[in-house]
Amino acid sequence: MPAEVDKLAVYADLTTRLEAFLADDHHGSREDLDDIALMSTVATLLKQFFAPLTFAGFYRAVLEGKLVVGPYQGDVLACTVIPFGRGVCGTAAARRKTIIVPDVSQFPGYLACDAVTQAEIVVPVFRAGRLVGVLDLDSAELGAFDDTDRACLEALVNACFV
Ligand code: SME
Repeated sequence: MPAEVDKLAVYADLTTRLEAFLADDHHGSREDLDDIALMSTVATLLKQFFAPLTFAGFYRAVLEGKLVVGPYQGDVLACTVIPFGRGVCGTAAARRKTIIVPDVSQFPGYLACDAVTQAEIVVPVFRAGRLVGVLDLDSAELGAFDDTDRACLEALVNACFV
């Protein structure tokens, strides 16, 4: 994110919105929300709250050893299926760890899906210890993501995918 943005304040605001979405209402309950509903909402909120993002979305661990693109906000993609261990997404899925890439040109095996992305963060998403997929954010700004993003995004997906 741009340095001048107060990320903690933005994430706090975003989390409040997300909690409101997840709360039971007279149309249904929290249990009615499946992964597509959760992923669509998180991707949309992130893209709205952090305007400079070039991509905000999920890849789902629905096939053996592969990630398949899920709900996202951004341009039409080149990368729809990513094997575990490939690119930033597949590496984060295989290691089950968040990866921050300040400069994508320096990441061996980076999978370029557009011409403008310079930095990326990929956060694995778990439910009861099982990998559900990964959250992927891309930015056109070098060094856009830091440990604040890591901590806030991990907390956000942990609160969401229970
Ligand atoms: N760059 C990613 C591919 C997904 S796109 O960024 C949306 C990677 O290396 O895994």
